Amino acid sequence: MIKDKKTIDRLLAEYGSPLYIFREDDFIENYKTFYNAMKTGYDKYRLSYSYKTNYAPYIAGLVKKLGGYAEVVSDMEYSIAKKVGYEDRQIIYNGPIKGELGYRMMLNGGMLNVDNLEELKYVCSIAQKNENDISIGLRLNIDIGQSFISRFGIDTDSDDLQKAIAMINDQGNLHLRGLHCHIGQSRSPQSWQNRARRMLEIVGSCFKDLKLEYIDLGSGMFARMEKSLADQFGGSIPSYEDYAQAVGSVFSGHYKDCSYEDRPLLFTEPGTTLINSYIDFVAEVSSIKHIKGKSFVVLNCSKHNLGEICTLKRMPIEIIRNSKETETLSNADFVGYTCLEHDVMYKGFNGELGVGDYIVFGNTGGYSNVSKPPFISPNCAMVSENGILIKKAEDFDDVLRTYQWEIN
Ligand SMILES: Cc1ncc(COP(=O)(O)O)c(C=O)c1O
Repeated sequence: MIKDKKTIDRLLAEYGSPLYIFREDDFIENYKTFYNAMKTGYDKYRLSYSYKTNYAPYIAGLVKKLGGYAEVVSDMEYSIAKKVGYEDRQIIYNGPIKGELGYRMMLNGGMLNVDNLEELKYVCSIAQKNENDISIGLRLNIDIGQSFISRFGIDTDSDDLQKAIAMINDQGNLHLRGLHCHIGQSRSPQSWQNRARRMLEIVGSCFKDLKLEYIDLGSGMFARMEKSLADQFGGSIPSYEDYAQAVGSVFSGHYKDCSYEDRPLLFTEPGTTLINSYIDFVAEVSSIKHIKGKSFVVLNCSKHNLGEICTLKRMPIEIIRNSKETETLSNADFVGYTCLEHDVMYKGFNGELGVGDYIVFGNTGGYSNVSKPPFISPNCAMVSENGILIKKAEDFDDVLRTYQWEIN
């Protein structure tokens, strides 16, 4: 996390407060460590960055420079990927409801993973109107013993998968090029090994004679994180090597007799794994209140800046002294500028704090700026640690441009 007061002073003076600060060098180091580990596990590997997690074009562009592909779930995200320079063949388009640009991308060589039979019907209708060959992927809904029923993908435990195969086969110019899955809330290396095994079992039973171009295992790994956060997940966070070994051993074993050419490309779609720990959020203490024996520290931000994680876990924080005088707080809650009682970002702070102090929250890279609603106030700016502007602070016009002002 960023701790250097001079850097924070300089960035806040130039870009305003609060502020997202992207630690680019650390992001790049993490990216390379992650990628190299996965590639060591199975050498025909590529990552596709999950745009929904944080689609800031600067970060998306950096991923592109580093060799990663783009994983998008809407036309908006697809347009970002195109704008940062991706070719369609380097984009994976997932999601239960896709935009028309997605199907155009599919016709142009992009990887589109069909989520359900209704969507497949639509893809068949496109194929009927086209003379050219069209290739798609299928998102599979697999059971690896997870504790919930996912709503995504084509059920592999009913006859839906056979129906999908028949629909594809009936369409002379439609071909299956890849298989995809993603299982939420299952972040252990064992669950990754289970999903790799299950996908390859399905390949063996349903697609034995098909040369698949790719198998995409989605995402859901633990990111590297501060110890205080890791402790809240049970203390020991698996390493990237643990995941690479879990998946790589299954894939490398399964394809050991195949040439590099004949093996499918393995994709994963990291989002939080890549970005979470590399954006810090700096807020300032606006006031400290004591009400009926309870202490509240009011910050110039809201829980929406930090993302949902701050309501589930205690975020890693650093206090950077910038106040003239401090007081000793016990069991204080950090609360935001909204008028919501539950706008609480951190519970149970004990220590010295004063008005003007900076609170640096770590782990605010994923589902933070992209999930911030314009509720009460527009969002703040994002910069890199080196002072490069990544996102301007939003203003009145950014939020209100789409409203109608003339009232008849
Ligand atoms: C299909 C898909 N891919 C990738 C991701 C990114 O996952 P994570 O942020 O855990 O890396 C998600 C997140 O929900 C997802 O649904």
